[in-house]
Amino acid sequence: MDNRMKVAFSARAENEGFARSAAAAFVACMDPTIEELTEIKTGVSEAVSNSIIHGYGEDPTQMVELECQIRSGGKVILIIRDQGVGIEDVEKAREPMFTTGSTEERSGMGFTVMESFMDKLEVVSRTGEGTTVTMTKQLDISNGF
Ligand SMILES: Nc1ncnc2c1ncn2[C@@H]1O[C@H](COP(=O)(O)OP(=O)(O)OP(=O)(O)O)[C@@H](O)[C@H]1O
Ligand SMILES: [Mg+2]
Repeated sequence: MDNRMKVAFSARAENEGFARSAAAAFVACMDPTIEELTEIKTGVSEAVSNSIIHGYGEDPTQMVELECQIRSGGKVILIIRDQGVGIEDVEKAREPMFTTGSTEERSGMGFTVMESFMDKLEVVSRTGEGTTVTMTKQLDISNGF
């Protein structure tokens, strides 16, 4: 059985928490482990905060989109989209410790965290058009969903 949800919210820092909880609530039907849930929430947080901060510079008139799909067999697909400034060099942006933010505030570890918690991370971006991050995670299911 496939299941899907999509939400959009203002590019405000406080909505990072909403996005984390929304993703967690949606995958709850799959009976994930606490660890899987934490990894999903963290991955979503990192991608959403990037869209809010880097993509939109915290412009609350702009919208970030979160889509979540659950495939039969327990594969979870998380898609975070913005139509912000985009990333000039995605390969470089994905390197550990790379940041265009201030080094006191940002550690440049967001993509690295997403990569380590997910099975697959895909980043598609164009300057001036926006960024789409797609994360895939296979849940260890034993409930026959
Ligand atoms: N949605 C986005 N729109 C525009 N630029 C982005 C986006 N996501 C990431 N980037 C760029 O990629 C860089 C690396 O992102 P990453 O999340 O790894 O580190 P960071 O956000 O700078 O720091 P941290 O996540 O550790 O606070 C960012 O500094 C930014 O330049
Ligand atoms: Mg980040």
